[in-house]
Amino acid sequence: MIPRAGWPAGSRGRVIAAPAKVNLFLELLAKRPDGYHELQTLLAPIDLYDTLEIQPRDDGELALICEAPGIPTGPENLVWKAAEALRAAFGVTEGASIHLTKRIPHDAGLGGGSSDAASTLLALNAVWNLNRPIEELAPVAAKIGSDVAAFLHAGPTWCTGRGEIVESISAAKPLDLVIVKPPFGLSTAEVYRNARLPETPTPGEALRTALSAGDAVAVGRLTHNRLQPPAFALQPLANWVYDALLAQSPLSALLSGSGSCVFAIARDRPDALRIARLAEPMLVARVPHCRMFVVRTLVPNTDSLRMSAGL
Ligand code: C5P
Repeated sequence: MIPRAGWPAGSRGRVIAAPAKVNLFLELLAKRPDGYHELQTLLAPIDLYDTLEIQPRDDGELALICEAPGIPTGPENLVWKAAEALRAAFGVTEGASIHLTKRIPHDAGLGGGSSDAASTLLALNAVWNLNRPIEELAPVAAKIGSDVAAFLHAGPTWCTGRGEIVESISAAKPLDLVIVKPPFGLSTAEVYRNARLPETPTPGEALRTALSAGDAVAVGRLTHNRLQPPAFALQPLANWVYDALLAQSPLSALLSGSGSCVFAIARDRPDALRIARLAEPMLVARVPHCRMFVVRTLVPNTDSLRMSAGL
């Protein structure tokens, strides 16, 4: 969040933090003619962030720099797509230089690319002096990816449609989580292709209520992810990671989104550290090269520091 040294005084540049998410609930309702699934999902942002530093350019060019290996820096990056989509939507002729620092693993079910795209929209909305409300940015976000619009909001969201219809929901307290990223990713499209629609969808209202009330025990009892069985069938080692977390008696363990990350809900931060410590030797023995993150979910009022002006 600290701007790089050397930015000119009075710069319109912005530094923005792009949080990762976990899905506490994901249910499929129907397969649509366009190939997407109609769903209900509860997204909870967490305190694991990518960072974007964005400066306007008068020459109309876009430039994206990212030092992380394997991350494209051209038009296939969702950050680039977001900048182009915003320019097209509002007739912008200015360009931008964007520096992306990646910390969120990709193909992980943590929404890193989608969050980067949403943060790009929020920051460029200020950098290009557009000052549009979120309702006008949301349709632009939805064209970039199904869960991009959710990341325009602070705090947890309840998402329907193919994920792009977003409602902010309340959370009384943050949840302490342990996230394990196995040394492989999962393709979202492939996991959805292997998913089966339920005869009777699991309702998510009770989970929403539990989250609003800050009842972590009830949240743990009510978590659900319809994509977990197909993801575990495609990558049995993800199932093993799940078993290693569940063996530590957390409140709950669950695949996030379409994976490959699996997370445990802990009772508090010391419990999260306990779960991580006890699961680690099991993981090292059976699924080496996993990464572990001890994190907390964000509640709306913690988000006020997400964007800062360039100094
Ligand atoms: O929208 P996004 O690009 O994130 O989706 C990636 C893929 O995940 C889609 O191409 C589709 O195969 C699958 N998907 C789906 N139903 C959704 C969201 C995504 O089938 N609601």
